[in-house]
Amino acid sequence: MQPFLIAPSILSADFARLGEEVDNVLKAGADVVHFDVMDNHYVPNLTFGPMICEALRNHGVTADIDVHLMVSPVDSMIEAFAKAGASYISFHPEASQHVDRSLQLIKQAGCKAGLVLNPATPLHYLDHVMDTLDHILVMSVNPGFGGQAFIPHTLDKLRQVKARINDSGRAIRLEIDGGVKVDNIRAIAEAGADMFVAGSAIFGQDNYADVIQAMRDELAS
Ligand code: DX5
Ligand code: ZN
Repeated sequence: MQPFLIAPSILSADFARLGEEVDNVLKAGADVVHFDVMDNHYVPNLTFGPMICEALRNHGVTADIDVHLMVSPVDSMIEAFAKAGASYISFHPEASQHVDRSLQLIKQAGCKAGLVLNPATPLHYLDHVMDTLDHILVMSVNPGFGGQAFIPHTLDKLRQVKARINDSGRAIRLEIDGGVKVDNIRAIAEAGADMFVAGSAIFGQDNYADVIQAMRDELAS
């Protein structure tokens, strides 16, 4: 079992003070910065691109940055984010014409490569890429917005993906994204997740350290 990672999604941060928000959430005990890239094409919302990632690096952020690409096409964004300082890059396979090529581009750029499965995306997308993947992100909401409710049947999907990871014998991280809160994080971990994205649950509270500690307490219980 790899150590649990808590990855606050800056989608719910105050963008007018983004550098300070990221500093604060890292000081509060976060492990990784989750960076949601939306293009108003693959998903019906628009956020930020590589320039903002680079700005965070220039601001002094040294923690891993986990770039979640909700864009189509995918490939043109990979090198840009790698140069901008991304650590992990994941994309939705149905948004790429050539999934293996996109994964190889991420690896060649020196980043950890992941696929993202929406609540209704079939697991067969994993069939021929388990040797390449560093992480698999299971969406527990439909992508595009923060603050949505966790979809319960995705717990079963997590269990199925975890079984595939165990069969592969590789240390592939299993990440969950959407509606993660203090009161469901333990059940999510029991279903196999080891990397937890949480946006509104963390940035919606005044004291980030308290929420992150409460999540860790649940994970340790
Ligand atoms: C949704 C994003 C999520 C989102 C999670 O498309 O991928 O990362 O910010 O937000 P919460 O934790 O509020 O559901
Ligand atoms: Zn995300």
